[in-house]
Parts: sequence; C-alpha cells; structure tokens
Amino acid sequence: MSQPQYSPGLEGVVAGETAISSLDGGLSYRGYSIEDLAHHASFEEVAHLLLHGDLPTAGELDDFRRRLGSQEVVPPPILETLRRIPVKVPMMDVMRTGASLLAHWDNEVADNAHDANVRKAERLLVQLPILMAARHRLVQGKEPVSADPRRSFAENLLWMLLRNQPTPQMTRAMDVSLILYAEHEFNASTFTARVIASTLSDLHSSICGAIGALKGPLHGGANERVLAILQSIGTTDKAEAWVMDALAKKQRIMGFGHRVYKDGDPRAAYVKPMCSELAAQTGNTPMEELADKVQEVVWREKKLPPNVDWPTARLYHYFGLAVELYTPLFVVARTAGWSAHVIEQLDQNRLIRPAANYTGPGKREWKAVGDRGA
Ligand code: ACO
Repeated sequence: MSQPQYSPGLEGVVAGETAISSLDGGLSYRGYSIEDLAHHASFEEVAHLLLHGDLPTAGELDDFRRRLGSQEVVPPPILETLRRIPVKVPMMDVMRTGASLLAHWDNEVADNAHDANVRKAERLLVQLPILMAARHRLVQGKEPVSADPRRSFAENLLWMLLRNQPTPQMTRAMDVSLILYAEHEFNASTFTARVIASTLSDLHSSICGAIGALKGPLHGGANERVLAILQSIGTTDKAEAWVMDALAKKQRIMGFGHRVYKDGDPRAAYVKPMCSELAAQTGNTPMEELADKVQEVVWREKKLPPNVDWPTARLYHYFGLAVELYTPLFVVARTAGWSAHVIEQLDQNRLIRPAANYTGPGKREWKAVGDRGA
C-alpha cells in the first residue's frame, strides 16, 4: 500500500475550505482586498464582514456598534480575579485565562448554534480588550477605566491603555493594524481554533487554544521580540554586525520570513509608510532608520522579507504602548477572524483528525517488569 505523502509542518497541504479569506492574488477578506479595507474601512466594519459575511450597511453598522457598546462590561468577579493573578504573569497568559473566565459568565457558552456563536464572538470582541486594559492598569497600581461607547473600537483601545486622547493619525494607524491582524486564512492559531471547534467543543475553548498558539514566537509572539531586538541593537551603526552575528549563530530574526509569503508580506508593506510617518511625528526616526538597516542586511544575506510583525511592533512602540501589550493586541484583532473560522467550521463540521507516519520500533513482545533487565 502506498504511503500518503507527508509534508513537515503541513506546508502546502490543503487542510480545509474557507470563504473567509484568500491569499490568491493578494490577501483578501471575503473578496475585499486588505489594501481596500485598510484604506477605507474601520475595524468594526471588518469585524462585521468577518462575523456576518458582508460589509454592514449604514444601519447595520449603527446596530453593530450599539450592540458592541452594550457589551462593554466585564463581570466584576473577573476583574477581582485579575487583581489576584500575580503581577509577574505575562499578559498573554492573562488573556488566555481571561477568555476562559469570560466563558464562565457567558450564559450561551455551551450553545453551538450559528447565531449564538456570533453573539458570543461579539461579546468576546469587546470584553477581551477591556480585560486587557484593566489588567494593564492594575499591574501599574492603577484602577481600570471603563470603555467609552462614544469612541470607535480603535480609539477606545488607545484611550483605555494610554489614558490620553489619541491623535486622529494614531487612531487611524491603530484601526489599520487591527484590520491587518484580524484574519489570515489557515495560520497556526486559526487552525488550532478550528481543530478545537471540530470536536464540538465551544467557541471560548477554541479562542483559549488559539491564544495559546498565537503566543509562540514563531507566530504572534514575534511582535514583542521585534522590539527587544531593536532595543538590544540600539543604534544603526551596530545593525550590520548584529545581523551577521545572529545569522552566523543560525538564530531566527523575529519579524522576518513567512510560511506562505516568500516574496513579501503585503501587510508589512502596507504598515511601513504609516510607521515611518508616525516615527517622524514622535521623535522615533532613529529607530526607523535602524529597522531599515536591519531589513536591508537580512534581505542581502538571506533574501528574507519582513512580515507584518516587523513594522507593527514599531508602530505600537511609537504609540507609547508597553511591549507586553503587542501580542495581546494581536489577540484582540484576531478574535474576529478566529471566531469567524469557528462558526464556519461548525456550519460544515467534520472532525479534524489527520494521520501520522509511524517512526517508532516494530512490533515487540510484552515482558513482565521483572524480565526487563536491571
Ligand atoms: N531569521 C533567520 N532565518 C530564517 C528566518 C528568520 N526569521 N525565517 C526563515 N529563516 C531561514 C531558515 O533558517 C531556513 O534557512 P535554511 O534553509 O538555511 O535552513 C530558511 O529560512 C527557510 O525557513 P523555514 O523554517 O523553512 O521557513 P518556515 O516557512 O518554516 O518559517 C517562520 C516561517 C516560522 C515564520 C520563519 O520565517 C520564522 O521563524 N520567522 C521568525 C518568526 C516570526 O517573525 N514569526 C512571525 C510570522 S508572521 C505571523 O505569525 C503573524
């Protein structure tokens, strides 16, 4: 019998069907190019597109915003638990725990009907950022601030985290970063969410698993490492030597390379000009120049282009956001995409259970414990 072909890391394997996003001819969400969405849409419109299948009409957008605004509370016992989690616990771990805690106070947690999952997804979409912002303030010894339903999703995020009125450019840049982080086909965390959903588990469990997968530095966790790299290099004149040394030691340089984009990640290309502009406005041009030098040397030596995390980490730094928020912000945005995939998986479910090639020993004879040698 011929063995089915094995592809390490499932590279190139078609593991399902989706109507949510496509990488064919550029990245698009439900048929709309990310360039168009990033240029024209708000994150709320994109979240509606992902969760409900289409861009909202003006009336639908008002209703959607009103529904999101009405969910802008986290149950007090969850806030109490956030106070008790040791200060040293990383924010990504708190996000994972937070998603799980939110399940305990969600009356529809076990209902896997399409509409119930959409309602739960909308709640998670607003409650996870509130939880993140609350925890961020608590570890600084400050009291959480409430979301302000008059502000847009992006503005609210910046407001809750920084407690400063963000400039329109900052709000727009945050909107764009959320839109570009919102969805990306069968990436590792989305696939994790779909695998969990396929067992007929529930949306919150799928999101908890997805957060765990996103945390890793080969996936979403890379954006926090990007900033650590730039800060450890320090100045542009040290960039070349740093890259050469890292490559000689066969280290992975975070923010570069991608499983599916070998010629360049369109999201990185879109964020870069905004990043340069914000750097100039916030006195961060030296970091931008350093980043450009690193990028030039990595390309020259390895022909590796930057991925979305490379400029987005800098964008968040220029906003003045603490580094431990970068991957959690990715969670906030990707909750829209993950939820859409869970809903799609359940609408046409078949248990995801692939096969493996066995590489262990051949058949062996049972020996009683006394017969197994000293
Ligand atoms: N730094 C240095 N070398 C790299 C990098 C990198 N960032 N990425 C790939 N390479 C090298 C590999 O060492 C390998 O070299 P070799 O052929 O000499 O052995 C070659 O490029 C091919 O790499 P693969 O591991 O086969 O590529 P793969 O598709 O498995 O990896 C991945 C994709 C995991 C994203 C990889 O590029 C990487 O580790 N990047 C750094 C982490 C990162 O930025 N992750 C964020 C991805 S985007 C996102 O999740 C939102």
